[in-house]
Amino acid sequence: MKSIVVYFTQSGTTKAAAKKIAAKTDSKIEEMTTKDSYPDNFDDLVAKAKDQIDNNEHPEIKEDFDFTDYETIYLGFPVWYQQPPMVVHSFFDKFDLSNKNIVPFITSASSSFSVCEPYLNNMKTNATLKDGFRANADPEIEEGLGL
Ligand SMILES: Cc1cc2nc3c(=O)[nH]c(=O)nc-3n(C[C@H](O)[C@H](O)[C@H](O)COP(=O)(O)O)c2cc1C
Repeated sequence: MKSIVVYFTQSGTTKAAAKKIAAKTDSKIEEMTTKDSYPDNFDDLVAKAKDQIDNNEHPEIKEDFDFTDYETIYLGFPVWYQQPPMVVHSFFDKFDLSNKNIVPFITSASSSFSVCEPYLNNMKTNATLKDGFRANADPEIEEGLGL
């Protein structure tokens, strides 16, 4: 069955990881964005990310993905405040993920995947959540994918 990589990125690191994962797994690749975009200025970005957490805001996703043909979705995002960006909640809200495997991957300055795990486990989903991994460096990606 086919697989797809869906990623959210602000400064491009997760995009680079997503491209490598798509190449190694022979997956289609799609970027996920929000209708209300994030500021480029770092301080404003940090403030907005924190605001969304504090208000439990699930920002609206711009894209309408059709996952019908895919069994596995590699879902990539940066770590923000020791957790997934709030748009990851929106992802699980928006899409019907029944019978899908979700393989999460993160990029971060230093945090490991494990900081995101409890948040992912608490998101309401009918998908099967697989083990996730940090994907900043090639060896992490290969180990995460079991290559
Ligand atoms: C709002 C915000 C919060 C962040 N929080 C963390 C954090 O808790 N732990 C960490 O290791 N890195 C943190 N970072 C760094 C990003 O996770 C890291 O730079 C990531 O690779 C950026 O991915 P991107 O280029 O795809 O947006 C944070 C960055 C931003 C903008």
